[in-house]
Amino acid sequence: MLEARSLSLSLSLGCFVAALAAFTGCGAGRSGSVAPQASASASAAAPQASAAAGPAFDECKDSGPVPRAYEGILRGARCDQQRFLTMASVADQLGVECVYCHVPLPGNPKKEDYPVMTPRKEIANWMSQHFMQSVKPADGSPMRCKSCHIDENGKPLVKVLGEPRSQAKAAEWMAMVMVNRFVAADGSRLRCRSCHVGTLGTPQWQGKVMLRTEQIPKHQLGPAAF
Ligand code: HEC
Ligand code: HEC
Ligand code: HEC
Repeated sequence: MLEARSLSLSLSLGCFVAALAAFTGCGAGRSGSVAPQASASASAAAPQASAAAGPAFDECKDSGPVPRAYEGILRGARCDQQRFLTMASVADQLGVECVYCHVPLPGNPKKEDYPVMTPRKEIANWMSQHFMQSVKPADGSPMRCKSCHIDENGKPLVKVLGEPRSQAKAAEWMAMVMVNRFVAADGSRLRCRSCHVGTLGTPQWQGKVMLRTEQIPKHQLGPAAF
């Protein structure tokens, strides 16, 4: 595991990201009138299709198949190498280490026991499977983890609502970023109640949204977004 990990991290991730940016850039002209599912999958399909788009760099050329089928963030990985590149990109975009989501291997704290489920893995998968399918950037840019997980200076930030979470900071971020820079998957405007059931301060208000799939805008499971 560790060997594969350092191998993948030492590969030119920049090149991969550049190829990805070049490819997904083609989608920038997408208009808001595109059918919801079609546009959701167009942006989400980009990471998978990037290898095909960049003839100079196929990250699966010398890599074996993934060891098992995945349903979450890794559901688009075509080979072992892409599995690690996906994970490296996710960690990079959030500004965290692998252990932020994965538990250490018992008896060997320098390695991680990757298949073990953790609360943060569960949230990360939910973001990719549901949250990122239920909304999309209003400017037509591709949906990435870093579409949300950045601070005011564009640096990676996992806790965008404050650390520890502050209700004031959360309300500000939601107004400035969530309903301002994103629209629902069907292109309609987002309101606070699109995810929180009610308006802040009313009895209908639900502060918890994460993992509550029924509460967020209607969506379909598109190709892996990360
Ligand atoms: C933000 C959380 C997060 C971070 C950070 C993260 N992972 Fe993951 N990782 C996941 C999730 C979620 C899955 C399960 C994906 C799925 O089910 O499609 C996963 C699965 C994996 C797997 C496959 C495990 C299995 O079940 O077969 C490997 C290997 C892995 N990660 C390696 C890494 C490495 C290496 C890093 C650091 C570069 C890393 N991960 C960072 C969330 C994370
Ligand atoms: C549309 C906005 C948005 C996108 C896109 C997004 N997230 Fe999040 N994410 C959030 C918000 C909001 C929170 C709550 C942050 C907080 O508590 O400060 C969050 C929290 C999380 C957490 C929990 C962190 C913790 O320790 O409490 C994880 C893990 C996470 N996101 C992973 C991801 C991953 C991985 C991706 C890409 C596959 C992603 N997110 C994409 C909005 C987003
Ligand atoms: C697209 C979905 C979405 C929309 C629209 C949205 N939010 Fe949120 N909001 C979230 C998520 C996800 C969290 C993290 C909730 C969790 O931890 O379960 C959150 C958390 C919050 C919190 C912290 C709640 C708590 O109890 O910790 C506040 C306050 C908040 N949002 C205010 C607003 C306001 C005000 C609006 C309208 C301007 C709004 N939100 C619109 C998704 C949304």
